[in-house]
Amino acid sequence: MVKINEFAVERWMDDYETGAKHNLAETCCASVSLDDLHTFSGQETDAIDSSRKQTYGAIRGSEALRSNISKLYSSNTSAPLSSKDILVANGAIQANFLAHYTHIGPGDHVICHYPTYQQLYSVPQSLGAEVALWKSSEDKDWQLDLSELKSLIQPNTKLIIINNPQNPTGVVLCREVLQKIVDIARQHDIIVHCDEVYRPLFHSLGNGSESPPSILDFGYEKAISTGSMSKAFSLAGIRLGWIASRSSEIIESCASVRHYTLISVGQLNDSIATRALSDSCVDNLLDRNIRLAQQNLHDLGIFVRDYEGKATWFHPRAGTTAFVKFMRNGTPIDDVAFCQQVLEKKGVLLAPGSRCFGEGNDFKGYVRVGYVPDRQVLVDGLQALRLFMEEDFENLPLAAV
Ligand SMILES: Cc1ncc(COP(=O)(O)O)c(C=O)c1O
Repeated sequence: MVKINEFAVERWMDDYETGAKHNLAETCCASVSLDDLHTFSGQETDAIDSSRKQTYGAIRGSEALRSNISKLYSSNTSAPLSSKDILVANGAIQANFLAHYTHIGPGDHVICHYPTYQQLYSVPQSLGAEVALWKSSEDKDWQLDLSELKSLIQPNTKLIIINNPQNPTGVVLCREVLQKIVDIARQHDIIVHCDEVYRPLFHSLGNGSESPPSILDFGYEKAISTGSMSKAFSLAGIRLGWIASRSSEIIESCASVRHYTLISVGQLNDSIATRALSDSCVDNLLDRNIRLAQQNLHDLGIFVRDYEGKATWFHPRAGTTAFVKFMRNGTPIDDVAFCQQVLEKKGVLLAPGSRCFGEGNDFKGYVRVGYVPDRQVLVDGLQALRLFMEEDFENLPLAAV
């Protein structure tokens, strides 16, 4: 039997998500319906052709879908991608899994950005690799130290895994940092995998700051980007993600492994994603989500400011999540007790940082807030959280040291 650590954040969501009154743990931009999509696209026809026979469809994903996905990577600094550079999967979670299952085995060494989505280091560990966590911390604005990356590299380092924009902190790695990561990887002939599932939700970069490019924009062949319809495109329910790479060797080896695990994604899901990423729809959907993220983040910012001394954070720049630290008299509260009590007493679901993102003693007192649900969910959820802060916060246990 495979030995793999429990996927703590997914377990937490599985245990609590359906019963929550105010779900502020969700990481997707507020989901849309097919009717909404119809409105966003402004097209006369439905996304789904109900007369089409439901065969397996195109094995790697339809040409139209892969072509629309490839356009997400178009930039004026690199050659365009084409449909052949894309492999469709059931969500970014499967795309990540395939990228790792294809490239990692016993005896390999992997370096992984931390904190991040646990899959990105637990799957490589389960495949027999030794994993070094490339740690970031709030006192350095969650930025990565490049000299540390150099010191982590081993002769058998196979993969450097990063997540940009990052879950849970909402930080972004800028062009210069990405360039240096690529330069280091190139020097040592290491594959760079960037989980870009929160791309292109760059809603709060600040005046004059450039949206960071994709990892595929640096002309390095051995780069893999994974992405999906779940977060920026509000369609988690269709379970559709992808692997993108400029390397035909990477795409072909992932495709070979993929034959054993999925054959193809469902045709209906393929059609819906194709419509959502079509020229007539994609910008409308993204505009809606960027605006929603900005409005909701503004409200979360007011909450954090109002509880100064009890709540601190790094102001997220992108994505859908914030990592807020709660303290009493300078000592972190027990974040698991906090999340359990706020759910029980006020119906607000949050994700505890130490349980869901921390290895060892990391991230005590931190709570991940998913702040891009529908506007009213955020407003009501924050109101309920305020009540909890007034009535119950003082009685919470502190984190064990
Ligand atoms: C960084 C990251 N990667 C991948 C995923 C999985 O996304 P999907 O719904 O596309 O499978 C998530 C979901 O939370 C995530 O945060």
